[in-house]
Amino acid sequence: MIHNPLSQTKILLGVTGSIAAYKAADLASKLTQSGAQVKVILSDAATKFISPLTFQSVTGQPAYVDADLWGAQAHVLHIGLAHEADLLLIAPATAHTIAKLAQGSADDLLSLTALALGTDEDSAPLLIAPAMDAGMFGHAATQENLRVLVERGAVIIGPEQGHLASGLVAKGRMTEPLEILGHVRYQLSGRGPLRSRKIVVTAGATQEPLDPVRYLSNRASGKQGFALAQAALDAGADVTLISGPTHLLAPVGTNYIQVRSAEEMSAATLQACQTAHALLMAAAVADFRPAQHSNQKIKKSAGLPTIELARNPDILAAVKDQRAKFGHPKVLVGFAAETKDLLANARGKLKAKGLDLIAANDVSAADAGFAVDTNRITLLHADGQQEELPLMSKAEVAAEIIKRIIPLLDKESGS
Ligand code: C5P
Repeated sequence: MIHNPLSQTKILLGVTGSIAAYKAADLASKLTQSGAQVKVILSDAATKFISPLTFQSVTGQPAYVDADLWGAQAHVLHIGLAHEADLLLIAPATAHTIAKLAQGSADDLLSLTALALGTDEDSAPLLIAPAMDAGMFGHAATQENLRVLVERGAVIIGPEQGHLASGLVAKGRMTEPLEILGHVRYQLSGRGPLRSRKIVVTAGATQEPLDPVRYLSNRASGKQGFALAQAALDAGADVTLISGPTHLLAPVGTNYIQVRSAEEMSAATLQACQTAHALLMAAAVADFRPAQHSNQKIKKSAGLPTIELARNPDILAAVKDQRAKFGHPKVLVGFAAETKDLLANARGKLKAKGLDLIAANDVSAADAGFAVDTNRITLLHADGQQEELPLMSKAEVAAEIIKRIIPLLDKESGS
């Protein structure tokens, strides 16, 4: 079972009068599809851009407007909405809305509800995704208002550099809904079973340069490692994700370190592991690199080159040595991607690398392993236990692995 921090949560989405309001419908839809119950409050200006019916249709929940403050159901509507919410997200947030929030002014349903949310330790978090023209965003008044809100605990998402309604290309665009969703997910994950645990995840293939334009690498996409990072975040961990080159977006909330070669990955991993509780070594590290690296492109006219290879550092072996000296990380998890003798090879690696757990997958199968979204793995534990998992999404595989890390870490810390 995937632990999804958004499922069963009650999210209030405030939408204010910016052209980015049309994107809020997509955001409401994504939040709903992620399992949250989403109620929307539109400011008067927002209704000029988008209708409450759009939100009601995608969320299956009421979308409120200012007139509802005076309707038959209105009795302390703002208090009820604020009290039931697990999180208030205002996206897009105009300069005017931000100013009102900073002032504590409460003259419409959204600002009344935001004020009713409170600023105590246990108040629902307030997330604000500004959208406005660059000059307005950069104005000292807006910046000061945002500073005040951050000081009170609000989280500001974006805005991003990009095309603005005025025709300018500058900072002011609302952050894309998918990334805002990542921020919401991260905010809601803090109370999971891995809170205050530091987890390092490696992902993707390393690239071993031959010259400035060529490299040796492999077909790993990074998908399984990125899914592990997301699952660890969802469980409340503090996650460092170290990845070889990839187009995947790092989950919001990770400390993301991009590397290229095995040597770079080794240095970053050893450093991050000094204080880590667990290392999940999902990267497909290239075993060999070209022994010589040419600073200039090797010319075809120079004839057929002979490429001599050198062995790359075994990162897990180095981490194991570091652990023997300094006691971190407590838990080591490896992966074995094989095309034959899967379990025998995986068991050998589990022993040789001193792992607590290894996830073995047959990468010759079309529906498992590299680049695809599904995986079929067998988990081998240090105590000899063996579990064959059915074909599942890489997100589900990640959740299964994280579920098994929790008792291993608890055992280590004696709880
Ligand atoms: O490549 P191999 O199948 O041996 O990888 C097994 C495990 O060892 C994986 O978790 C991989 O990330 C790790 N590994 C490593 N350093 C290498 C090669 C592999 O840490 N140079």
